[in-house]
Order: sequence, then structure tokens, then C-alpha cells
Amino acid sequence: MEIQFQEGGHQQWKADILLAPALEGDNALEKCPELDAACPWLAVAPAMRDVRHRQGEMAVIYGHPDLNIPRVLFLGLGKKEEFSLQDLRLAVGKALQQCRELRLSSVLLPLSILASLPCGRDRLLEEVIYAAHLGLYQGNFYKKIDASAPKDPEYFYLAATTLPSASQNAARRGEHAAKATLLARRLANLPANLLTPADLADEAQSLAKSFDLSCSVLDEEAMLNLGMGALLSVGQGSVHPPRLVVLEHAPREHAAEAPLVLVGKGICFDSGGISLKPAAKMHQMKSDMSGAAAVLAAMTVIAQEKLPKHVVGILACAENMPGGASVKPGDVVYAMNGESIEITNTDAEGRMVLADALCFAKKNYSPGILVDIATLTGACAVALGDELAGLFSDESFLVEHIKAAGQTAGENFWLMPLWKNYEQKLKSDIADICHTGPREGGAINAALFLKHFVDDICYAHLDIAGVDWQEKATSLCPKGATGFGARTLIELARGGLE
Ligand code: BES
Ligand code: MN
Ligand code: ZN
Repeated sequence: MEIQFQEGGHQQWKADILLAPALEGDNALEKCPELDAACPWLAVAPAMRDVRHRQGEMAVIYGHPDLNIPRVLFLGLGKKEEFSLQDLRLAVGKALQQCRELRLSSVLLPLSILASLPCGRDRLLEEVIYAAHLGLYQGNFYKKIDASAPKDPEYFYLAATTLPSASQNAARRGEHAAKATLLARRLANLPANLLTPADLADEAQSLAKSFDLSCSVLDEEAMLNLGMGALLSVGQGSVHPPRLVVLEHAPREHAAEAPLVLVGKGICFDSGGISLKPAAKMHQMKSDMSGAAAVLAAMTVIAQEKLPKHVVGILACAENMPGGASVKPGDVVYAMNGESIEITNTDAEGRMVLADALCFAKKNYSPGILVDIATLTGACAVALGDELAGLFSDESFLVEHIKAAGQTAGENFWLMPLWKNYEQKLKSDIADICHTGPREGGAINAALFLKHFVDDICYAHLDIAGVDWQEKATSLCPKGATGFGARTLIELARGGLE
């Protein structure tokens, strides 16, 4: 679906359907005289008497088929006091799905209609565009093509007498964020036989090329030379060898700055390894690279928007499989910083690949800010459920920035403790550190393990296990990978982080 800006009066509006978001109890025609003027038939349409704009309610009102605007779709947003951007997103997603069902090819949103909603116009516009794209994602890529299935609307017109560049930029921001979320979602939904670590690195390289990012890929040998024993141990049981992908956005005037470094967990399949997972839901572990997908997707937008900031993205990619060559419980390996790690459960592989990626980031890029994002622990999902991601950081300003970025993105983060006293639970009798602690406090133990490899750098860890995947479809996302985190990272880079 293509977004098109249309400047001019309502006399020029022409589309298969007009979208009209409205609050419960509002008379949409009084609130937006332009709508009344464009569709004078609405005021006398008998069906209008039944439209209440309750939250989630949709109503299509029909005019004569020969009219420039033959249909109006009212999106109920509920009571003004209870208005939320998430309800708006959900309503828009559903509306676009309805437009597809109706086999319409063009949709028009008059900007003036947003004036009655309790939020700034451009902010609303950004979310409408974001949600419109999300709502149309289906992800049924492996089904036979059904020629009779309804197609996505072709055009989304934004109509206003004049369209200030601020509004156009807002729409573009929404579109970019949506495309990134959908890219992350697509990658995370890819079956593990179709997306190995090398495939993920190839994807990164080709995206880097189209978005003008620099990209380098380390293979096993390169990682061996760097001493990345922790990352390599995870992949050694798989026939698909690991990769470390480094993406860099370094605009000339900012190249010398200490970068924002984003590190993503890229486990293309997590069987648990020798500490094999139970069969139920194991297929979900094809999305154990959601963190890497979010970083990669965010980097494309950071480059596309030429953000005035030095940003580095690192994807730590491997496949965790059982086999004769696999790492075993009880093994000791050496991370890039020279420290020995005792492995007691090969299913705690995410922190192993991240440990080396964090060391690598620290050594090669001296990050100003370092953020990792990972489907790291079932414990985090148990603690926070499927709507909240865990945020671990001791830096209060970074916590505020990430929460704010998440709020803008419609992705919620909850501050979790890096409880110092639990560090002792990671003590090993035989090595410098053990990679797992007790089951209790599992998400915290994992976060403390990562923090150990970061030390003094301004750092946050985002645990997205639980939010990266959903069991039930919503109007913004079908069942499966959600693409969570991509947009938060974009907003973080867009925002005034210093
Ligand atoms: N990828 C999993 C975590 C996960 C679980 C993500 C469910 C999404 C949904 C991770 O690698 C893992 O297996 N963690 C273990 C750690 C444990 C062995 C210390 C876990 O959470 O059980
Ligand atoms: Mn695991
Ligand atoms: Zn995992």
C-alpha cells in the first residue's frame, strides 16, 4: 500500500472509502465540518442514527456508488477520557483489514478529522500510518497463491488543504517504523530451515547494501581468532555455523562520537542443545532471533532517515542443536575477554552468544550507550506476561529514554532489578563465572551475567521473551512473531539521547 499526500479542498477528494475515526458521543459531522461538506449525504443517511463510535466499533455508511466518496468507515474510539493511542492503532488495523475484505483499492483520511481527538495531529497521523501497515500484514508466505483472495488496498491518501512538511514527516516516520516492525516480524517468523545464521547474515548484508549501511560478517574462523569461545560453543553442535554481523551507521560529522551500540540475540533455532527442551512449543524457538531481527530492522531505518548519530548494530547468530559435537553441561569455555565460563545448562545459550558480542562491542567500539535485546529467559515471560518486556539497567536516564521510546512505539517496558546480591549465585567452583544461577530470579540472574561482561559502560538489557511472540491474533498482528522492539530501538535512536 502506497501513502500519497493530497493537497486541496474536499471537492477534490476521491477514494473508494473515507476513514473517519471518532469518539463516543461525538457528532462527527459537527466536529468535522469538512466531512459534512464532502459527504452531505451522511447527515441524512438513516444508518448514521445507529453509529455510536463505541471503542472497537466499526460502521460502513454507503452513499451513491457514483460519488467521489461512495463510502465512509467510522472507527469507534470510545470515550474521550479513555482514549489511547493503542486503541487507535487497533481500530485502524481492523479498518484496513475491513477495506481489504471489501476489495477496495483506495482509502482516504482527511487530516481535519483528527482535530477532534485528544492528541496532537501529527502524532495521531504517525500512528494511523503505522497501524494501517501493520494491520495488512498476513505472513502466510508458504501457502499456495489464491488468486481470488482480496488484495491490499493500493493507495492510502492523506488529504488536507495544505500538508505541512511536519505532517508529511510524521507520516513517513510511521511508515518507516511499520516497515521495520514488519521486517523484524518476517525474519522472526521464518522457519529455521529457511533462515540459518549464514542466511541471516546474508539478509543483513543485502539490507545494508540497499540502505547504505556498512556491514561486515565474521565467520567461525574469524571468531575463533578473536577468542569468542562463548559464542562459538553455542553453535558447535549445529551443521549451520554461527555468524557475527556488524552493521554501522556513521554519518561523517558524527563518526567520531562514541556510538549507540545495539546488540541482538540471533539464535535461529533454540532446541536447548544437549539440555534439550520439551517438544511442546519448541517450534516457537525459530523466533529466538527476534532480538537480532529487531536490531537489523532498526538499523535500516536509522540509515534510511540519516539520523545524526553514530549507531552500531551487532547480531550474534547461531543455532543451538544437540549432536556429537555439541557443547555439554559441565564444559568450560573462554569468552573474548579471557574469562572462563562454566556451562551447566546448554539451554542458557542466549547469554553465551551475547557475552562475546558485548565484549566485542566494548573492545571495538567503546560504546557511549550499549543496549542488548534478547528473547533471553522464560522466567521473564513468566514474570511479566505477553504485554511487558523486561528492562534491566542501573542508568536512570537510559531507563527513562527507553521507557519513553517504548511508549511512543506502543511497546511497553517494565523496569526489573539488577539485584547486586544475586551476583554471587553465578559463582562457579571451577571457572571465573557460571552462566546460570538458580531457577528463582532467572531473568535477573541472566541480566547480571550479561552485565558482568559490560562492566562500566552505560548499559541496558531488554528481555523480550514473552512479547516477541503471540498466541492469538490481534488486528495489528497475526499469531506468531510480533516484531517487538524494532520500533523502540528506532525511537531511541531518533530521540535526543546524549
Ligand atoms: N530462548 C529461551 C528463552 C525463551 C523461552 C524465549 C520462552 C521465549 C519463550 C532461552 O534460550 C532459554 O532457553 N532460557 C532458559 C534459561 C535457563 C536454562 C537458565 C529458560 O528460560 O528456561
Ligand atoms: Mn535456550
Ligand atoms: Zn534461547
